[in-house]
Amino acid sequence: MKPKILIIGGTSGMGLALAKYHAERAWEIYIIGSSIHKINELSIQYPDWHIVHCDVRDKVQRLELFEKMAQCTPFQRVIYAAGWYVNERRFELNEADSAAMIAVNLQAFNDGFEWAAQHVQAACGQSAALVCLSSAAGLIDYPYTSVYAQCKRAMWHTAAAYRAALLSKKIKVLAVASGYVDTAQLRALNGGSAAHKPFLISETRAVAEIMSALEAGHDTAIFPRRMKYLVALVNLLPKKWVGWAMRRKLDK
Ligand SMILES: NC(=O)c1ccc[n+]([C@@H]2O[C@H](COP(=O)([O-])OP(=O)(O)OC[C@H]3O[C@@H](n4cnc5c(N)ncnc54)[C@H](OP(=O)(O)O)[C@@H]3O)[C@@H](O)[C@H]2O)c1
Repeated sequence: MKPKILIIGGTSGMGLALAKYHAERAWEIYIIGSSIHKINELSIQYPDWHIVHCDVRDKVQRLELFEKMAQCTPFQRVIYAAGWYVNERRFELNEADSAAMIAVNLQAFNDGFEWAAQHVQAACGQSAALVCLSSAAGLIDYPYTSVYAQCKRAMWHTAAAYRAALLSKKIKVLAVASGYVDTAQLRALNGGSAAHKPFLISETRAVAEIMSALEAGHDTAIFPRRMKYLVALVNLLPKKWVGWAMRRKLDK
């Protein structure tokens, strides 16, 4: 029997890169996404993967997804990689965008982790682990933080609560906070290139960082190192200054 991984938000970007990494190591792959186009393409490329459609913004679809996935348990790894982000400071979020932002980055994550905590289990020589993709943006504490950053901040702390709660069941919980990763989505949001983003890293490097933290049994992974140090430094500064600097940098 192969070990099983479920990646919610596995149809593109880091989630897909993590799925490929596991497929190359003979894991059975289950990925979730809402784009029919991506699902159709991936189903042709990876006919042996289980690729499931679900728009996680929709509570009913989420419940149906969890019922369906419960029939495929246990999973040894569940990764919450689904995310929805925009250049929030440049495009005012309307009501629908704010609702989508909260639904994907916070509400569906909460439901996903609640479900996953009950359905991960060590097997096939693999320990049980939950992973979530937060963001370096969620680690900087200052007034005037974006909805996205607040969601990622909540994710970071929720993961810490699950980590403590699941310790006795020997389920590891890894919270990931990366800086900019050169995914197609980040490029699309930046006119085709994200090269100007500070400390930009490749998807391959992001996967290597996540997997090395997971395999070492770490609780958190903050990378790249220069972004980690920058975040630590910024958090030492008075919040008022940080708010002022962020406004100048981001409100263009
Ligand atoms: N790229 C970066 O610089 C960066 C930095 C820090 C943190 N992150 C975080 O890392 C995660 C992945 O980012 P990425 O750049 O790899 O983005 P991405 O390529 O856009 O991947 C996002 C994934 O989430 C899924 N998703 C989005 N909305 C969904 C919905 N309503 N229902 C179901 N699935 C949905 C997408 O699938 P469908 O399109 O099929 O719905 C896709 O599989 C995100 O949580 C992001 O916030 C990214």
